[in-house]
Amino acid sequence: MAKKRIGILISGRGSNMTALIQAAREDRLGGEVALVLSDKAEAPGLAKARELGVEARAMTPRRWRTKLDGDDAREYAAALEAAGVELVCLAGFMRVVKAPLLEAFPERILNIHPSLLPAFPGLDVQRRALEYGARYSGCTVHFVDASLDGGPIIAQRVVEVRDDDDADSLSARILEQEHRLYPKAVALVLSGRYRLEGRRVIRL
Ligand code: GAR
Repeated sequence: MAKKRIGILISGRGSNMTALIQAAREDRLGGEVALVLSDKAEAPGLAKARELGVEARAMTPRRWRTKLDGDDAREYAAALEAAGVELVCLAGFMRVVKAPLLEAFPERILNIHPSLLPAFPGLDVQRRALEYGARYSGCTVHFVDASLDGGPIIAQRVVEVRDDDDADSLSARILEQEHRLYPKAVALVLSGRYRLEGRRVIRL
């Protein structure tokens, strides 16, 4: 059977992207990474993807800085469809994905976020978790819907906040867990061994 094809969207260094490419190579995903797209031409993750033998290109949206919609989103959808992509993984993609990309991949776009959602959606979340005084934070992989970081949760990992943490040290420990969590969540979705009951992702 042909391997399922995955597209990854990035904006920066692409360490989660790298974790997914490596997991695919080690046959831990049940799919292969076919294409990496970045909204930023200078994203270091682009060169990293190419080093790992994955086609990667920048597609700089013409409109907005914080969302991907309209013709910009249509171009992303067309590129992903042309590459035969079935599942889209956002990996540090710092734009809110809107129509028509969202409609082109219904329940087929995943995101990883560095907090225990629904706590701390949005930006700068590790610093916000610290300043709030949270004792635990972590990371979440969820389906992307029209809300901000609000789609159904697929998997989470907890990270304890230490008294001597700053935003960098907490981010680094959360990132380690992200690299473990994302491949597992992608493998679950590609295997199809779950069903959605309302917001709940029930494993089969
Ligand atoms: C990761 O911590 C990811 O969870 C976060 O950006 C970082 C990207 O790192 N994503 C978001 O905040 C999305 N709102 P990476 O480029 O090394 O994977």
